[in-house]
Amino acid sequence: MKDVIFDLIDSEKKRQSEGLELIPSENCVSAEVLKAMGSILTNKYSEGYPHFDGIPGWSEDKIAKEVLPNYRYYGGQTNIDRIERIAIDRACRLFHADHANVQPHSGAQANNAVYYAWLEPGDTVLGMSLPAGGHLTHGAPVTLSAHIYNFVGYGVTEEGDIDYDDFEEKALECDPKIMLVGYSAFMKIPDFDRVAKIRKAAEKKFGHEILLMADMAHVAGLIAGGVHPNPLDHGFDVMTTTTHKTLRGPRGGVILSKGNVASPLKKPEKKLENIPILIDRAVFPGTQGGPLEHVIAAKAVAFGEDLKPEFKEYAKNIVENAKTLAEELKKLGFVLMGGGTENHLILANMVASFGFDGKIYERALDMVGLTLNANAIASDKGGAFRPSGVRLGTPAITTRGLGKKEMIILAGWMKKVADICKKAETEENLEKYSKELEEIHKEVKELALRFPVPAI
Ligand SMILES: Cc1ncc(COP(=O)(O)O)c(C=O)c1O
Repeated sequence: MKDVIFDLIDSEKKRQSEGLELIPSENCVSAEVLKAMGSILTNKYSEGYPHFDGIPGWSEDKIAKEVLPNYRYYGGQTNIDRIERIAIDRACRLFHADHANVQPHSGAQANNAVYYAWLEPGDTVLGMSLPAGGHLTHGAPVTLSAHIYNFVGYGVTEEGDIDYDDFEEKALECDPKIMLVGYSAFMKIPDFDRVAKIRKAAEKKFGHEILLMADMAHVAGLIAGGVHPNPLDHGFDVMTTTTHKTLRGPRGGVILSKGNVASPLKKPEKKLENIPILIDRAVFPGTQGGPLEHVIAAKAVAFGEDLKPEFKEYAKNIVENAKTLAEELKKLGFVLMGGGTENHLILANMVASFGFDGKIYERALDMVGLTLNANAIASDKGGAFRPSGVRLGTPAITTRGLGKKEMIILAGWMKKVADICKKAETEENLEKYSKELEEIHKEVKELALRFPVPAI
């Protein structure tokens, strides 16, 4: 008998095909990425790392006898080693990195491994605070890392940009060991050079090295596509990212770094130049066990796609679509944080726009097949459960081929749904407007089916 799970997968395929995904952290993978991820590589245990290429002065024979057996804790790695090395090589090429660790199971795992690689308990990390747009792993009190390390948060300005003065003041005050630029709800291009300068000043003041870390989980695909600056080209030591957002790969994480690439078998001195080795040791055995080699294979396939010229066009289209959508929404009365967007993401203040919060709007849009998420905005009074804003973005709909014309239609539907929310006032009352919502839903479905989800 067919397992009910497969019925639910079919039902999810229908949901994805008939609706439009506006959650900025989601995307649609290719059939090839999906195939690699669903492969028999999931059968294999591969704790450890693929051996690196050669050791100066050592013969192949000596490496084979003394090094290779120590790199993996299980036999049978001939194919796995090659797959993981291709993933590493492609990731390094995409981001101009000296080293890539492709094993983190997720973006959160990647961040935690970097903290573990560089910090001692109690050390300070200066990162963007959650309400300002940072991620949970940048110091939210509910996380494990916040129990181990001391996080100091910097904020954003009224215009929605990083408050660099606040950043600098705190950097010169809190004695940080890591300075972190990265975010989940931020629409500007960070000034990496300015942050690198502040790092130098703080290093001079405190007399120790400070790790410059960028969490580019959201915009890594824009970096790979050449439409967003690369922090590793602007003095940053480490960049973490998820692989499933704008990079359009399987769910997972990657850590890219600059520095010496050598064997992770011997613990190196805690110096910035050794960060690649420190990171390898922090991922395995530091914070993870066996790598998910089927996912690493899918990451390699996605990186291969990201290296192609077509991906540059895709990245450009993501940003163009986001800008068009932002402009259209503004014309229709939406108040956007930061006045618009410079990347793939839009944050709308629904309370300031129409007088209702993000939660009712999320619910109403769900009813018409448009999926986004309610999101706090800087200094939100609504709290985590009734945030004032919504966050939306264009990576998934751009993958499906929607363009400028469709962004204008989309903004129109969003305004119609906002008008209904205004009348309904509460989520319970939305049912009273089900006929109007159903009309919009029909139009959404008709358009969505014209732009199929790849691999479905
Ligand atoms: C900036 C940032 N970092 C890290 C993460 C965590 O990634 P994951 O959900 O894969 O753990 C996210 C996820 O949304 C993110 O936006």
